[in-house]
Amino acid sequence: MVSTPSPPGPRARFPGAHLLAFSRDRLGFVCRLKDAYGDVVAFRLGPERAVLLSHPEDIHEVLVLQHRAFVKGRRGDVSKQFLGQGLLNSEGALHQRQRHLLQPAFHRQRLAQYATVMTTYAVRLGQSWQDGDTLDMAPAMMRVTLAIAAKTLFDTDVEGEAAAIGRAITTLLQGSPRMTLPLAPLLRRLPLSSQRRLRRAQDYLDTLIYRLIDERRTAGGETGDVLAMLVGAQTEDGNPLSPQLIHDEALTLLLAGHETTALALSWTWYLLAHHPDVDTAMQAELQTVLGGRLPTVEDLPQLQYTRMVLTEALRLYPPAWLMTRRARQEVVIGDYRFPPGTFFLLSPYLTHHDARFFPDPEAFVPTRWAAPPETDPARYAYLPFGGGPRQCLGEGFAWMAGLLVLATVAQTWRMRLVPGPPVAPWALVTLRPKHGIHVQLARR
Ligand code: HEM
Repeated sequence: MVSTPSPPGPRARFPGAHLLAFSRDRLGFVCRLKDAYGDVVAFRLGPERAVLLSHPEDIHEVLVLQHRAFVKGRRGDVSKQFLGQGLLNSEGALHQRQRHLLQPAFHRQRLAQYATVMTTYAVRLGQSWQDGDTLDMAPAMMRVTLAIAAKTLFDTDVEGEAAAIGRAITTLLQGSPRMTLPLAPLLRRLPLSSQRRLRRAQDYLDTLIYRLIDERRTAGGETGDVLAMLVGAQTEDGNPLSPQLIHDEALTLLLAGHETTALALSWTWYLLAHHPDVDTAMQAELQTVLGGRLPTVEDLPQLQYTRMVLTEALRLYPPAWLMTRRARQEVVIGDYRFPPGTFFLLSPYLTHHDARFFPDPEAFVPTRWAAPPETDPARYAYLPFGGGPRQCLGEGFAWMAGLLVLATVAQTWRMRLVPGPPVAPWALVTLRPKHGIHVQLARR
């Protein structure tokens, strides 16, 4: 028998108070709610009835067991404005069709073909560095993962444009918290300089993607990359996909395919620089398994400690730190019943930092993954790639790119943090390092 009391939660001091607090400091806001009210917290987020769920069993209910009762995101979600109907945002039959269409690009054998591209770009990055250089690892990782995504998925070289693409994406992500405010439609029509910047960034990326699509159409031939798959695909009624949908899918993959992987790597470098003992242990493994040569796909199963390092970095700093769902119908989660339209926030960051599931949760301890939990729902305490039918399509790609770049670069370079502003997480759509990750490089 299910009771129907409301879950605990804060009252807003004035209408919009929580939305304002959330927009200002998203991560701090959800951490405070969980600390104060527990695993299920109800609150108003502007006009929305919102619920923060932080227990793995409840998250498992939403993402897996009852997934049909939910759609993704919020009404007017920012990413819908620039990623349109791409795979991250589409729903129902369109989502299923498009996921089915793109899946082959992420099959195991296909991924294996991407490995050389991944190590080649990692080598190039390392070769552009000098002993003693100081640099911000965050943009460096963005550039290398962007080049990898563009080459593997679209068979195109964007290294020359990587900085401009990175700036445009940052502009869109920075503008995103503001674009979720109730007044966002009005804001968008005002001639504000922030709005002009957003529009310019969006125009720049749109032009780039349409150019890539045109180049692929003109080149023709069967390259077999994702762009060719999209250009050659048909809708249910036998028509080609609309240019808009091809654009949305391509931009989604370019963004989803590099931003999160770059962040995973950036946070990993930060943690390694902070923990020389872990750096030394990882180095010992790289020397034993690779002995100075470049890593290949076949080496990956042997790089167990390196994988634990990446796994632990993804626990402490999950790049996709927040997932959101809206109930399409009445749903029952645990002891509570929620009306249709309820907006759910599920944060891997919160479960990853919960001492009930990860003892001494703030400590960086890669060896905690020597015997990973295998059973549900404990598995849902660790969910950097989400779960259920909307689980990350690029998970295999991300592990491979992450491990190959890490193993390639770490064999030659050691990073030492340089004094500067503190390294702190900054929760936009993804979890970025607020002031970057500034390091000095030393050749090993
Ligand atoms: C460390 C790297 C990555 C992390 C942490 C990550 C995380 C996630 C998460 C949590 C989701 C689920 C979002 C939700 O349920 O609301 C997701 C979805 C997705 N990711 Fe990733 N991702 C990563 C890398 C990649 C890569 C490399 C690609 C493509 C090359 C990719 C493509 C996608 C796509 C297309 C979806 C939407 C899947 C769907 O809804 O069917 N991701 N990702």
